[in-house]
Amino acid sequence: MATKYSFPKDKIKIYLLEKIHPAAAETFEQAGYSVSCIPKAIQGKELTDIIEDAHILGVRSRTRITSDDLANSRRLLSIGCFTVGTDQVDLPAAAKVGAPVFNAPHSSTRSVAELSLANLLSLARQMPERSAKMHQGVWEKSADGSHEVRGKTLGIIGYGHIGQQVGLLAEAVGLNVYFYDILKKLPLGRASAAEDLQSLLKMSDFISLHVPGGEETRNLIGASELALMKKGSYLINLSRGNVVDLEAAREALLSGHLMGAGFDVYPSEPAGNSDGFENILCGVPNVILTPHIGGSTEEAQKNIGREVAESLIAYLDNGSTEGAVNFPRVHLPSFPNSHRILYVHHNVPGALNDINQIIAELDVNIDSQYLSTYGDIGYLIMDLNKSVSDEVRERISVLPKAIKTRILF
Ligand code: NAI
Repeated sequence: MATKYSFPKDKIKIYLLEKIHPAAAETFEQAGYSVSCIPKAIQGKELTDIIEDAHILGVRSRTRITSDDLANSRRLLSIGCFTVGTDQVDLPAAAKVGAPVFNAPHSSTRSVAELSLANLLSLARQMPERSAKMHQGVWEKSADGSHEVRGKTLGIIGYGHIGQQVGLLAEAVGLNVYFYDILKKLPLGRASAAEDLQSLLKMSDFISLHVPGGEETRNLIGASELALMKKGSYLINLSRGNVVDLEAAREALLSGHLMGAGFDVYPSEPAGNSDGFENILCGVPNVILTPHIGGSTEEAQKNIGREVAESLIAYLDNGSTEGAVNFPRVHLPSFPNSHRILYVHHNVPGALNDINQIIAELDVNIDSQYLSTYGDIGYLIMDLNKSVSDEVRERISVLPKAIKTRILF
């Protein structure tokens, strides 16, 4: 039997901005929702008008959502960031108005891993230099300094989602794979954990970085780490710009200690395609510089479109906040014939008590109840055995601790 939703799906207003991949709209439509697409980034009044009208707002990286923009978001149920990161949204402000934010942290994993392997193979054959010379009309056929990668050692720093995929791809072309991670990780394929970072640096012909950004990994690779790397080895950074000390890398490249390097990320990156790019590595031979395109493939964009839409649909349909970045994470299977209430509230003592008192007075049974908190926000999913929805909602939503109350079915 089809679930009967208290708030009909055709009344839910979903806005997708910035040419989010059509897979997102298709996923919503297959789930019975309709979508309005706006092909550009918006700001100011245009944005606040949409936020006022929207139940669901989907953005990519160029629409910035501040606490001021969210001030009149009466209906807004959730925000989807169709990106890997979520920097474009003021996350605490979104939580304060009861809107979980979802993203797609791993949809571009394979794309980044493939670019790492592409860098590795290209550097080993001096492709950047050879190609640049051909464009200048110089034919330079020579085997000097070019190598097969089979039998060489790849050292992966950060053996998470991307690092593991890089390892598997690299093994397929005959590399021996070692990794270093601050956490204990199960090796995939024939990969092995190195004893520590220093021994990984010393043993590797190629180093590929896949750690998170932030203070803990700032300049993880500096002059002393580069000095530990083998003479004639290669460095690839597709992770975050601050992970490598670029001055030190430049020196290692110019002195010939490093044979080549590939960078996709930089300490400071242009805001858009019309801004220029300046970096101390520009012009250094056998260095591949790409404009942060690790995750920029049509396949990754499609995966992101689908993954974020699925998270938003799960939140709309059953209240699941699995994967939300600013909200308590709750997932509760629904029971047949139950009536589900979602209650987002300020995380202060007594919230559950207030609700249970209302339920007790109405003479209904609670089939299941799950409360979770995250910072200032509490989120309760409750299934009742009787439909007392409207009355319960009215009484709950006027509680002083209430932020947003929703009856699902
Ligand atoms: P993940 O979270 O799955 O893996 C990161 C791994 O690094 C974890 O296993 C963690 O334990 C480890 N780690 C953390 N600090 C470390 C340290 N100091 N030394 C060694 N290991 C450490 O992340 P994922 O998805 O694999 O992403 C990795 C990086 O790739 C991130 O910086 C991410 O921002 C970047 N990225 C870049 C893209 C691009 O377009 N170039 C696209 C997507 C992600």
